[in-house]
Amino acid sequence: MFNIEEFDIKLDTQVIGRNFIYVEEIDSTNDFLMKTEENYPNGTVVLAEHQSSGKGRRNKEWKSEKNNNLTFSILLLPNPNFPNVNLINLSASLAIAQTLENLYQFDIELKWPNDVLINKKKISGVLIETISKSDKIEKIIVGMGINVNQPTFAGKYDIRPTSIRIESKREVSREKLLSEILNQFEENLLLLEKSSSKILNAWRLRCKMIGEKVKIIRGKETKFGIFDDIDHNGFLILKTREGYEKIHGGDISLR
Ligand code: BTN
Repeated sequence: MFNIEEFDIKLDTQVIGRNFIYVEEIDSTNDFLMKTEENYPNGTVVLAEHQSSGKGRRNKEWKSEKNNNLTFSILLLPNPNFPNVNLINLSASLAIAQTLENLYQFDIELKWPNDVLINKKKISGVLIETISKSDKIEKIIVGMGINVNQPTFAGKYDIRPTSIRIESKREVSREKLLSEILNQFEENLLLLEKSSSKILNAWRLRCKMIGEKVKIIRGKETKFGIFDDIDHNGFLILKTREGYEKIHGGDISLR
């Protein structure tokens, strides 16, 4: 069982996670915050021990063993000078990477736009969703799934999954991990508002695909080129024979 008190003692934020909702079972923590009529405060975090319909990016499923991992969503209510959603996305995966490095000395790789890898295996993913009214973003929901103490993974996956337990050969405290991720994420969001280039550089440092030949699949479209860089908005710049192209989303792999 998740010990809320232990988590709360370690939480060192002003906003993120100060309103904390813990549920045993839910369809998806992202869907919960997307659909609720309740006006939850900025920074509300919903953590579920089990999701019956956990969602990954591109309509995939996020499978996670009950009581062993972290599946949660963070609600952000944008203010007028709020950074764009892509940058929040990168700040989120970066926060997970930084925390895993600090707590367990892992060598983490970030895969654009928001996969967190260790030894080429996936340890965490981020799913950002927004609710807009007449072109104005009203809510941003940052969903994070982290494989923590799950000992094995069965089934088929695009990228082979792993967990902190598999990689470090020990069970770790989910309470400490969650509090540290939220602390780091809040710090990253504050830095993002002041100097987005620092966040972008920290993200670039961990992205091993920059400079490599890649293939990007989006829907029915496949593109080939060199992953040149990410731009100031967090978009991928692909160098192709025709020139440079900005890529907004898709599944990227080495070619
Ligand atoms: C991905 O790698 O494709 C993103 C995975 C995101 C999973 C998390 S778990 C908590 C939140 N609720 C969901 O339904 N999905 C996200």
